[in-house]
Amino acid sequence: MRTAGAVHGDTAALLGPQEFALACRLIAEYAGIKLSDHKRYMVYNRLLRRLRARGLENFADYLQLVQDEPSGERESFVNALTTNLTAFFREPHHFELLRGRARLHRERERRPMRIWCSACATGEEAWSIAMTMREAGCAADILASDIDTDALETASAGLYPMERTSALSDETLRAHWLRGTAGNAGWVSVRPELRSMVKFMQLNLQSPQWPGLDPFDAVFCRNVAIYFDRDAQKRLITRFATMLRPGGLLAVGHAESFPAGHAAFQGCGRTAYEYLPA
Ligand SMILES: C[S@@+](CC[C@H](N)C(=O)[O-])C[C@H]1O[C@@H](n2cnc3c(N)ncnc32)[C@H](O)[C@@H]1O
Repeated sequence: MRTAGAVHGDTAALLGPQEFALACRLIAEYAGIKLSDHKRYMVYNRLLRRLRARGLENFADYLQLVQDEPSGERESFVNALTTNLTAFFREPHHFELLRGRARLHRERERRPMRIWCSACATGEEAWSIAMTMREAGCAADILASDIDTDALETASAGLYPMERTSALSDETLRAHWLRGTAGNAGWVSVRPELRSMVKFMQLNLQSPQWPGLDPFDAVFCRNVAIYFDRDAQKRLITRFATMLRPGGLLAVGHAESFPAGHAAFQGCGRTAYEYLPA
């Protein structure tokens, strides 16, 4: 067994510096995600599961498989290295902002409000947007996308263990969710009224071409650009400028400020920006 560059004892010995560097290069190429050195043990743990699932004995072979399309392993590799941490009504100030805009939209426009939840992870953010819109009495077309196909599967199922919904009040639960019975006891599933508001799609924010999408009134891009480098963040904000209607809202994560340098985006609240082209 190779030991050079081992981290955290013998078990990690197979993910040497070369393999780690290659894994970092590949995830940057496929998803734009930059991984720092201290993520090496995390990468080891997450890829080890894939290595075992593929019946392989070392990371060099595994990383070769990832590059050998059509092995199908590239998708699982990306899924394994994304971080899907999320919650219902995470960073609640954005939902208050959205609620206000939804009420105005309802009064002024005859069309549904178009909202893009662009890194929806396991769906909690998209369903929180849908609940907000429904409560505001504003029709909405919501697109929820993510690069991670496993996370998207959970998101579109709209089915969560009760404990995931502990932040929701009883009233909210009753209004928007159905409690499971018999085999589904302990789970809640989203009501059809909410389900019909959200469409799910795999979309890589870093891919050179996005599918043709009509412009949006609001884009949520929260806690994903933090994984991208500065150039990628700059490209992203320029692309969002082409996807938003004038006056549209862009909500980003609590540690992100990438829209701040762009002339067409003006701050309009905590980590929230309005698209105001000249
Ligand atoms: C930490 S979660 C954020 C979830 C949610 N937006 C929130 O703030 O609670 C980051 C999500 O970004 C997704 N992601 C990472 N790179 C991506 C890319 N290049 N394109 C689209 N989604 C990406 C991951 O799969 C993950 O689900």
